[in-house]
Amino acid sequence: MSQDMTESQATGMPQPADNYAVLAEFDHPDDLIHACEKIRDSEVEHWDAFTPFPVHGLDEAMGEKQTVLPWIVLVAGLIGLGGGVLLQWWTNSISYPFLISGKPLFSLPANIPVIFEMTVLFAALAAFSGVLILGGMPRWSHPLHRKKSFMRVTADRFFIAIFDKDATFKSGEAERLLAGLGAVEVDYCPADPTSTEFPSQLKWAGILIPLLALAPFLLMVTSRNSTSSQPRFHVVPDMDWQAFYKGQSANPLFPDGRAMRLPVDGTVARGELEEDEHLVFGLDDEGDYATTFPMKVDAALMARGQQRFAIYCSPCHGLGGDGDGMVTKRAQEKGYGWVPPTDLHSEAVTKQPAGKIFESISDGVRNMPGYSSQISTQDRWAIVLYLKALWRQRAASLADVPEEAKDKVQDK
Ligand code: HEC
Repeated sequence: MSQDMTESQATGMPQPADNYAVLAEFDHPDDLIHACEKIRDSEVEHWDAFTPFPVHGLDEAMGEKQTVLPWIVLVAGLIGLGGGVLLQWWTNSISYPFLISGKPLFSLPANIPVIFEMTVLFAALAAFSGVLILGGMPRWSHPLHRKKSFMRVTADRFFIAIFDKDATFKSGEAERLLAGLGAVEVDYCPADPTSTEFPSQLKWAGILIPLLALAPFLLMVTSRNSTSSQPRFHVVPDMDWQAFYKGQSANPLFPDGRAMRLPVDGTVARGELEEDEHLVFGLDDEGDYATTFPMKVDAALMARGQQRFAIYCSPCHGLGGDGDGMVTKRAQEKGYGWVPPTDLHSEAVTKQPAGKIFESISDGVRNMPGYSSQISTQDRWAIVLYLKALWRQRAASLADVPEEAKDKVQDK
């Protein structure tokens, strides 16, 4: 021990005690490599090398073992992969199965993108944090940073440090070893008197903030699994709650106490002015059923009437108006309590004025519903015209057949 002291005094260096490390400075990577090989083969255990850039062969010279990082990344990647599979399988086929076009609820090929992303994400995060943690990060301060000469480690100098926890340190053996390795300078680095502890406030913040971040999820889980008579909690209420009165309800604001307002007296919606009584109600000037048509009667109107009759009337009345439509036939076959449609060729109907028939189609008659909401005014008149043609056809005689076609018809 006394010998060490004299030697230390001889080189003018501070004592090993109270120091963090003994530092050797090199100005060429080759020197560093050679020095590292020597230390590797000595009994020194706690030491490290520092370089401004990656030096090839350094790991080997230092006898560094293969890092476990690849294994950590592999495991994390596999967890991500499994998580991706489970996530999609559980959400799509267990938690919320939703059949789309008969496709399987879970099929691997469709889920590969997410699985791939999860694998890469987990592996990348593990690699990132693994490098930091295995490298001793995050670290608040480092004693070597207190050494002025060590600053050049990020520029053009190479260092080897043997730390105070090594067995050769106290005795000065470490210093002697480094001095014999061709270093530019060998010097002690003082221990850092400041605490290396992570500040406790930050530590607590680091624990509490992530815990608080879980609170919204807890709230969601509890609300999803409980019932309440209170309105839902909305962070952004949008327009979910507004002051308004429902239709058909009372409202004290208006003198008549009704929430729904009537149109102002005399208001007529566009195109709904029912000025022409003949056209709209089938009435003549005296208020009797009109016997004439309110529009020009021509072949086009007749053709339209035939087509509309086939669409709207024939299902019940039959194409000829005899009351043998498909719906009627079926209803009778099934034995429903079906009121048979009136035979449109019965005298009770054929004697009616056009305006009366028009009214029956518009407003309905006893068991037959009105068709004014489905068939336009014009078309209802066209149907009346076609009915007239049907009646005329039944009453026809040989005299009605055109001359040139007469020889094809047999008079009975
Ligand atoms: C859903 C079946 C059904 C359809 C479709 C239907 N009707 Fe009728 N119709 C009836 C029935 C049933 C009666 C008899 C009502 C009764 O006596 O209660 C009737 C009666 C009538 C009468 C007799 C009115 C009277 O004064 O007694 C006329 C005319 C008539 N229909 C015309 C039409 C025309 C024109 C159409 C096409 C626009 C039509 N119906 C469509 C079922 C139908």
